[in-house]
Amino acid sequence: MKLTDDEKALLDGQEGLARQKAMELLVKYGEALGAERLVDTNNVCGGLVSAQPYKREFASKMGSIDAVFSEFHLDSQEVVEIPPVKAFTCRLIETMDPVHWKMQGVEPSTYEIVMRNELFCSRIGIHLMNTCAPYLVGNVPVKGEHCAWQESSAVIYCNSVLGARTNAEGAESTGAAMLVGKIPYWGYHLDENRLGTHLVNVEFDVESVMDWGLLGYYVGEIVQEQVPVINGIRRVPNISRLKHCGAAAASSGGVEMYHITGITPEARSLDEAFGSNKPLETLKFGKAERKIAYDNVTSGKDPNVDFVVLGCPHYSIEQVWHACRLLEGKRVHSNISLWIFMPRALKEVADRQGYTEIITNAGATLMTDTCPALGHVHPKGAKVAATDSAKQAHYLPATLGLETWFGSVEDCIQAAVTGQWRGELK
Ligand code: F3S
Repeated sequence: MKLTDDEKALLDGQEGLARQKAMELLVKYGEALGAERLVDTNNVCGGLVSAQPYKREFASKMGSIDAVFSEFHLDSQEVVEIPPVKAFTCRLIETMDPVHWKMQGVEPSTYEIVMRNELFCSRIGIHLMNTCAPYLVGNVPVKGEHCAWQESSAVIYCNSVLGARTNAEGAESTGAAMLVGKIPYWGYHLDENRLGTHLVNVEFDVESVMDWGLLGYYVGEIVQEQVPVINGIRRVPNISRLKHCGAAAASSGGVEMYHITGITPEARSLDEAFGSNKPLETLKFGKAERKIAYDNVTSGKDPNVDFVVLGCPHYSIEQVWHACRLLEGKRVHSNISLWIFMPRALKEVADRQGYTEIITNAGATLMTDTCPALGHVHPKGAKVAATDSAKQAHYLPATLGLETWFGSVEDCIQAAVTGQWRGELK
């Protein structure tokens, strides 16, 4: 790999052992990927820092940050101090809510570690956004900006909606990128890899958040890790719709970038979206395909729901407002836990607006920082879940063994209030 003088200096250890090890990791990683060089990044989102012992061990084996001990553990007995980060860095989700951790079944010892992690991260300059939707709380890279983001729903939003550039990084590469402000220049950093590969003709007006989730889920299952170009959308979707669509496509496939002609920034036309590529396949998304996606994402069989999850990806304030309007004056069924997740930075707005009070008075809980599917938090004994997120519905059966209904937020609130799933594809 071709390195600049400043990169060689980092690799030689002129800025200390931690940065040297970070460079070693990035160079090895880049060479394995066939990258010819590194690119500067000043926007790193990583979710590495964890209180879970198995993750700590993994992180230390891979030579990444173990904030628990405020040190940099290598794949040997060697231990070094972690210096302040070089790139603007924000932390993705955590393993627990800092207030409702007991309700989530988190042990006091884990709580202690997480809070020590948090303190350590803030001291070295990692911004504690603690959300999978950093673009909702101020981390909004501009078109063309090179980033190093982890978390699939954030990555696909960054590439597709913002037109910034990132691959789906891992805990180790983001940990290293934080320290040196570099990342291998390959994949979605390159113009040619951002061009469309599959054409998707949409045959009906996709409007609801639920339908946007189903569109993403259907397309992701077919194109897997390629770049779909969605054509025929007549009404501009908002943030909620786009984040649900992307999260779904990244779950059923491994989509890291999509285009919507006339809407997303690198697809002003079909010609621009495909560039020199010819579509490998032309798909359609009509009512029949929507039904296929719905059947594939829904694993619920027992209508007696005991757990309702909203806020995957983390809800915007608009979505919390919408949930409150559905919930106000109602009471969550005594057998049900309704957990709604949002970024911690927006929770204060929810408090100020009275949304937290509405949610609490209804017997639900507004949570931050984590989610059931990735944080592995859930009410004790829960067996049947319901959610408005195709991503959460995709992962809950595998990660927590919960059969899961998928539907609209209205279906989910109704299930939370009655204890029964009555949602269906209309
Ligand atoms: Fe975020 Fe968890 Fe969903 S990390 S995208 S809320 S699975």
